[in-house]
Amino acid sequence: MVSEEEIGKAAEMLRAGELVAFPTETVYGLGADASSAAAVKKIFAAKGRPASHPVIVHIADMSELKHWAAEVPRAAWLLAEKFWPGPLTMVLKRASHVNDQISGGQNTVGLRVPSHPVAQQLLKAFGGGIAAPSANRFGRISPTTAAHVREELGDAVQIVLDGGACEVGIESTIVDLSREPPAILRPGRVSSQQIADALLVPLSSSGADRPRVPGSLEAHYAPRAPLKIVHPDEIEDYVRRQIVPPPVAVLARRGRPRDSKVALWQIAPELPEDYARLLYGTLRRFDDAGCRLIVVEALPQLPEWTAVRDRLDRAATPEPEAQSTAAGAT
Ligand code: TXA
Ligand code: MG
Repeated sequence: MVSEEEIGKAAEMLRAGELVAFPTETVYGLGADASSAAAVKKIFAAKGRPASHPVIVHIADMSELKHWAAEVPRAAWLLAEKFWPGPLTMVLKRASHVNDQISGGQNTVGLRVPSHPVAQQLLKAFGGGIAAPSANRFGRISPTTAAHVREELGDAVQIVLDGGACEVGIESTIVDLSREPPAILRPGRVSSQQIADALLVPLSSSGADRPRVPGSLEAHYAPRAPLKIVHPDEIEDYVRRQIVPPPVAVLARRGRPRDSKVALWQIAPELPEDYARLLYGTLRRFDDAGCRLIVVEALPQLPEWTAVRDRLDRAATPEPEAQSTAAGAT
């Protein structure tokens, strides 16, 4: 996949304060030496991202929690044992040396041990924490292949380690353990039920609505074409009523009706995990095909679909009368 030599060169670049894009099991990250404020600043410039947004620090294993967090509660050790390496980020009170670029001026730090072998190799070769948001431009959908990273960032990043397509496909679950009770800030592959079961405590129910970044801008994990979420039975009617020029793209778990006028009809996977893996790549393909409107079937209001519904809700173009105030994609 990625040679020892490439990993060595990437670690060298990080040490020199440069950016390196690398695969994780969730999405590709745009990494910098987390201990260098100057290096982390370059991430914001490359992404076009406001400096007030905190960045997740990726670490090689849970023993490094003590270095980055001021205190490591029992809950953090329990979740680390159970879900690391893997698609879970924990927000903890930050150690005093954590720079403001990382924490976005807050008193916490987000920490994650990724399981992707290339991410693991890079962390070990580098020997420190790697600050990394998703490797997309601000407000856009996260990249799930090395080619997506190139499309997003072009020359802004010299090294893109190619670890193939990401297995999870959507960003990690974020759980805030810096307050009581713990709260889910972003749903993901690790469900809130799994976390509650591991901790043996109920989670705060208000967490998902809490703004993650004070005064955050409105932004979406969005494709370029407007995206609308429509009940499966109403898709054909909805498309017929549009005055947008073709092509219109549809993403639904059922097949195209025989007399359908839809140019691009993509059948979506039945299982949430498969759906998540393919979602961002599919939306990119619709954009690349020049679609003017993307219609996505509304998904079941069931817990196993929470993470995918969250991403689709953020990607959806708000109705003019109902402007979203959700915290933005980063
Ligand atoms: O799966 C992932 O988490 C990917 C891969 C690369 O690890 N990373 C990722 O990072 O999605 P990013 O920056 O695109 O999204 C991280 C989210 C942001 O909404 C940020 O505001 C939030 O995590 N976050 C980071 N540190 C935080 C903190 N200390 N407190 C609250 N929210 C935090
Ligand atoms: Mg992001």
